[in-house]
Amino acid sequence: MKKHNLEFKIKELEIIAQELKSSICPLRVGATQAVPGEGNPDADILFIGEAPGEQEDKLGRPFVGAAGKLLDKLLASIDLKREDVFIANIEKFRPPGNRDPLPEEISACFPFLERQIKIIQPKLIITLGRHALKKMFEWDRDKIIEKNISIGEFHGKLIKGKKGDYFPSYHPAAGLYHPSTKIEIEKDFQKIPPILHYLPCK
Ligand code: URA
Repeated sequence: MKKHNLEFKIKELEIIAQELKSSICPLRVGATQAVPGEGNPDADILFIGEAPGEQEDKLGRPFVGAAGKLLDKLLASIDLKREDVFIANIEKFRPPGNRDPLPEEISACFPFLERQIKIIQPKLIITLGRHALKKMFEWDRDKIIEKNISIGEFHGKLIKGKKGDYFPSYHPAAGLYHPSTKIEIEKDFQKIPPILHYLPCK
């Protein structure tokens, strides 16, 4: 695969952020603004969460609320900062009242994330929560997954796909409510540095 230079990546990511402002994503009308995602355009790791919440919708930035604080701590536990990675969501606009995004809403926005993945070319895609995991598996396997996926089965494991390498974990918000889930996420994060080390250079 051709490696993009940093200048190209910055420019292309900015084009996506601009295009999102007038996109046909059904949730755009009820949201304050798009939350395209942010971070290092050249990151080895791309995190994919669920959807913007109230704070994210207000600020136009991903994971800036309570779940984001936990994500920052988890990153710090493996000597990473937000600026080292790229953080995005499977849905770019806040669903009303923070309800789950519907599959058709996720699908309408997904081409933007797909383009981000192709620009950033991460070594590892870390899905946070079931919505991101389900959609990424559908994308990689060209197969609709009817039921919700059980994260318990997949988290903390490196999954080699056709289009990339994946490492699913639980959503940090789940860790805020369930101490046992928080412990699982903490353990998952400790596996990230050795996995990155094992994966081939970009
Ligand atoms: N939860 C998410 O999944 N994404 C955010 O950006 C914030 C909270």
